[in-house]
Amino acid sequence: MNRALCPGTFDPVTNGHLDVIERASGLFDEVIVAVALNPEKGGGPLFSIDERAAFIRDAVAHLPNVSVRPFDSLLVDLARELDARVIIKGLRAVTDFEREFQMAQLNYRLDDRIETMFIMSIPEYMYLSSSAVKEIAGFGGSVEGLVPDPVSQIMSVRLRETAR
Ligand code: PNS
Repeated sequence: MNRALCPGTFDPVTNGHLDVIERASGLFDEVIVAVALNPEKGGGPLFSIDERAAFIRDAVAHLPNVSVRPFDSLLVDLARELDARVIIKGLRAVTDFEREFQMAQLNYRLDDRIETMFIMSIPEYMYLSSSAVKEIAGFGGSVEGLVPDPVSQIMSVRLRETAR
């Protein structure tokens, strides 16, 4: 069984993440989307870990070999627990490279049996990120086509609530 992990914070999942997950699902027998708790990232997530996982579950329901799982541990420990040999990350512009390279090196240092592999973003999603989406929605801009529809609807409500 060729099993890969697609880890991330996914606050919230974007159509760029989903494109990478879908392409990974065509390459591996099984893909597990690992949603990190990451409480410190960017001043705390907008959505709870359960909400973030539920958005992804909903969006990948048509992919039978993809499952979603929250985690709060080292990624390599989760990979070992799930017997996954590959970590898949999406790579957008060169600006991603340094951080991704560092994470890949550290994970290799922690367990050299687990390989990190990158799937290049398609040009349409090259500049798409969860933080950009939150900023656009926070100022009342449209994020249609950038995140799944249920996410864009809930996001504008949530951002209004947190601005109060
Ligand atoms: O969405 P992101 O920010 O690219 O995801 C980062 C993530 C969740 C993959 C990374 O923070 C992570 O692996 N966290 C788990 C803790 C860990 O294993 N850290 C060591 C590797 S840097």
